[in-house]
Amino acid sequence: MATASADPEKRAEPSIERGREAFRSYCSSCHGIRGGGDGPLAEVLKTPPADLTQLKNKNGGEFPKAKTEKIIDGRDPSFTRVHGVTDMPVWGERLSLEVSGSAGKKEDHVRRRIGFIVRYLESIQAPAPATAPAPTK
Ligand code: HEC
Repeated sequence: MATASADPEKRAEPSIERGREAFRSYCSSCHGIRGGGDGPLAEVLKTPPADLTQLKNKNGGEFPKAKTEKIIDGRDPSFTRVHGVTDMPVWGERLSLEVSGSAGKKEDHVRRRIGFIVRYLESIQAPAPATAPAPTK
């Protein structure tokens, strides 16, 4: 940790910055500007949008990266049905419409965009509740 002078607020990695921007335009209407599940659309939805700052706490203190990517992507039915994400748009499809070209190129774009968003989400996770054992990182 000798060289780690980075203040996470000021020196956010560029990918986290891009994730934050994407989150603001695609997700905050439902999930809220800080991810707390309190966006302006929340009250008209049948299912309340999840509090996305609690993903880590809900997963025993470990951020569920791969699972979160799949939930956001939404094209894998086992991740949409299991979590009953009905009002949640299928971002894998939406994002693939942003670029033209081969299926491979579209897929790269989708993966990159979702990757940025997931890194951003990872950066906004709430600290563990005081009663839980401190994470060992
Ligand atoms: C139209 C409203 C809406 C938008 C826009 C939206 N979501 Fe959601 N999202 C929901 C709802 C509602 C749920 C809870 C659904 C459920 O669990 O049945 C949810 C659930 C989730 C979950 C699962 C949380 C958990 O605890 O398992 C994740 C992760 C998530 N959203 C991420 C995102 C991201 C990232 C974006 C932007 C790319 C986004 N959402 C955009 C409505 C939305």
